[in-house]
Amino acid sequence: MERPYILPRIASPDKPLKIAVLISGSGSGLKALLNYQKTPRSHITKLIISDNDDAKGLKYGYEKNINTKSIPLPDVSDKKKQRILHEGLIHIELIKSKIELIVLSGYMRILTPSFVTKWKGRIVNIHPSLLPDFPGANAHRDAINAGVKLSGCTVHLVDSGVDTGMILEQREVEILPEETIQTLQNKIKKIEHELYPRVLDSLSEGLYHSKS
Ligand code: GAR
Repeated sequence: MERPYILPRIASPDKPLKIAVLISGSGSGLKALLNYQKTPRSHITKLIISDNDDAKGLKYGYEKNINTKSIPLPDVSDKKKQRILHEGLIHIELIKSKIELIVLSGYMRILTPSFVTKWKGRIVNIHPSLLPDFPGANAHRDAINAGVKLSGCTVHLVDSGVDTGMILEQREVEILPEETIQTLQNKIKKIEHELYPRVLDSLSEGLYHSKS
């Protein structure tokens, strides 16, 4: 049986939840979040981690003097050991920075069940589709190919499946007949940047209750 979600403590702008943002790429979601946090919120970014040195989003952390680390996969040929070692390195940084909530923002790696179990209820992800439809790495392509008229984004707690955890919020966008993967991605990122910081407010302020 899966371990239940253990949600973060209830925080306030005076005692904000310390969050780590994990990214893999351009970091536009991270940029929007840091911008939102210019006003004191009940969450504050204390650590930024990328799984690759080239992630453009790393610059947003350096610019703001936030503890920002690139932690690439270690050079180990056994893939299973490599994932475990990698997550071990990430876990050490999370503990060092006393992180209370992990925010996946365009982090393109699947976390192992053993990592998720340690943090379950305190890992949140944003996915660019209306889950449970179109999980995985190619959500925009899959939605367009399926011919659906609506897509959007989903913020959810992470469990040991792929994009299967408890849904917190969703927002819809229309898919137009001339839509391309790029135009759909841009449209969805725009609503993600509004939605995710607000869901983090609600999560930090104790407005969600876990179902299992
Ligand atoms: C976002 O659209 C996010 O939903 C998606 O990657 C993009 C990251 O953009 N995440 C996933 O697909 C996770 N499966 P960004 O790097 O510009 O913030």
